[in-house]
Amino acid sequence: MTETAHDRLLIIDFGSQVTQLIARRLRELNVYCEIHPFQNVSAAFLEEFAPRAVIFSGGPDSVMREGSPRPPKEVYDLGVPILGICYGQQVMMHDLGGRVEAGEHATAEFGRAWVTPTDTKDGFLTGWFLDGTGREQAWMSHGDHVSELAPGFQVLGTSPGAPFAITADTDRRFYAVQFHPEVHHTPNGRTLYENFVRMAGFTGDWTMAAYREEMVQIIRDQVGDAKVICALSGGVDSSVAAALLHEAIGENLTCVFVDHGLLRLNEAEEVVGMFRDHMNLSVIHAQEQELFLGALEGVSDPETKRKTIGRLFIDVFQKYADQIEGARFLAQGTLYPDVIESVSFSGGPSVTIKSHHNVGGLPEKMGLKLVEPLRELFKDEVRTLGRELGLPDSFIGRHPFPGPGLAIRCPGEITRDKLEILRKADAVYIDQIRKHGLYDEIWQAFVAILPVRTVGVMGDGRTYDYACALRAVTSVDGMTADYYPFSHDFLGETATRIINEVKGINRVTYDVTSKPPGTIEWE
Ligand code: XMP
Repeated sequence: MTETAHDRLLIIDFGSQVTQLIARRLRELNVYCEIHPFQNVSAAFLEEFAPRAVIFSGGPDSVMREGSPRPPKEVYDLGVPILGICYGQQVMMHDLGGRVEAGEHATAEFGRAWVTPTDTKDGFLTGWFLDGTGREQAWMSHGDHVSELAPGFQVLGTSPGAPFAITADTDRRFYAVQFHPEVHHTPNGRTLYENFVRMAGFTGDWTMAAYREEMVQIIRDQVGDAKVICALSGGVDSSVAAALLHEAIGENLTCVFVDHGLLRLNEAEEVVGMFRDHMNLSVIHAQEQELFLGALEGVSDPETKRKTIGRLFIDVFQKYADQIEGARFLAQGTLYPDVIESVSFSGGPSVTIKSHHNVGGLPEKMGLKLVEPLRELFKDEVRTLGRELGLPDSFIGRHPFPGPGLAIRCPGEITRDKLEILRKADAVYIDQIRKHGLYDEIWQAFVAILPVRTVGVMGDGRTYDYACALRAVTSVDGMTADYYPFSHDFLGETATRIINEVKGINRVTYDVTSKPPGTIEWE
C-alpha cells in the first residue's frame, strides 16, 4: 500500500486478464487507484486503505464453486460506492442474497453484445444510450450469469444473454455490470467509470503536476543528503526517473550511461549530450565497447548473448558506482505494471521465452537501497510526467530499445563490420519513417542484419553482400504485436535508399510476422 494524500479507489482483483485496464481507465480520469489481489484484502486492510470507492474485477472462477474468491464481508459496510464487473457482479449478487446460475444453456456470452436500457435516469448511465440507436455495444465474456437480483437491486440494462446486464442498488450506491466497460470493445465504457467516480465524489486530483511536486518531497525525505546512482539507458523510464531525481536532489545524483558498443548511430552522444549539457546532470559515460564486443566475439546463441551482456553490464555498473563516494541509493525506473501482484490460478512459473537483462540483484550485492520514483505510474503517465519535467517530445516518444541493443538484431555472429552496416541501415530506415510521418503510429521499428549474403548486381558489377530485414510493429504493451502495413511505395523507396546509401547491403526484406507466433526482436 502506498502513502498518498489523494482520495483512493481500491480495485479488488479476482484474476481477470484485464484488471490493469480498469486501473488505466481510472488513472486517465485523474483518479488514484491501486489493484490488490483478493487474498490480500482483509477487513484490517480495508480500514487502513480507507477507499472512497471499491471496484470488484472480473475473474475466471465461478461463485458456485466452494472456496472461490470473495471480498471480505466488511467491504459492504464501508458506506462507499462499489462497482462489480462480470465475476465481480456475480460475487456481489451472491454475497448480498441474489442467485447466480451456470450458463450451460443459451446464456453464456463471449464477445460483442448490445445492451438496451430499462431505466436511463440513473446517474450511472449519464451519457449512455444517446446516439439514436437506443443501445450500446458492450464486451461480454461470461459463462455464469445472475438469475435473481439481491434485495434492493434493480435492473438498468439488459442484453440477450444477460437479463441483468446493468444492475444497481442506488440507495447504497452499489453498481454491477455483466460486461467489461474497461475494454476497447465497449466503446463508451469510460463514461460509466466517469459516472461512477463522480458519484463517489472523486475530484480528479491525481495529476502528473501534483505527482511531480509530491514525489520530489518524498525523494528528499527518503534520501536526505545521501548520494544516489542511476543507470541511464536513454529510454523513457530511466530518463524520466533521472530527471525527477535531479529535480529533487540536484548534484547528489550521478547517472551512469553504459556504452556497450551495441547502440544505434549517434545514440551515446545524443543521450549524454542531452542530460549532461542541456539538463546539467552529472553523467558518467562508461565507454566499455571493447569489453562487451570482445566478450561477444564468436558468440551466436541468443541466450548466451543476453546473459553475457547482462553479466558484464552489472560488473561495469558496479565498477563505476564504486567510484562514487558515499552512494547509498540506486534509482530504478520500475513502473506500476512491474509491481502489481497478480492473482495466479495456475500457480506455476511461466516459461522464459527470452531472459531480459536488468540490474536485478545489484542493490543487495552493493548494499544499496532502492529509490523507485515511478513505481506508482503506468507508461502513459510516465510520458506525461516527462513532459512536465521538460524532456523534449522527441525523447518521450522514442520507440523502445532493448537492453542488449543491436546484439539481438544481428542474428548469428556479431562482428564490428556487421554492427557498422546495421547502424547505417537502421538510421536510413528510421529517417524514412520519420519523413513519411509514420514514427508515432508505429510502436517499434528497426532493422535486423541477416547472417546471409546474397548476390546482386550494381552498375556493371556483381555484388555479394548482406541481406537485411525491416521490422515495424504496432502494439500496446509489447506483449502482442501486429506488423505495420507499409505501402508498397514506402517499402520500395526505403529498400532503394538502404541499398544505395549503405555499403554492405544489397537486399532488403520486410518481416510480416505478428506476435505471437513471432517475437518483436529477431532473437
Ligand atoms: P520480444 O522480442 O520479446 O520483445 O517480442 C518485446 C519488447 O521487449 C524488448 N526486449 C527487451 N528489452 N531487454 C530489454 O530491455 C531485453 O533483453 C529485451 N528483449 C526484448 C523488445 O525490444 C520489445 O520492445
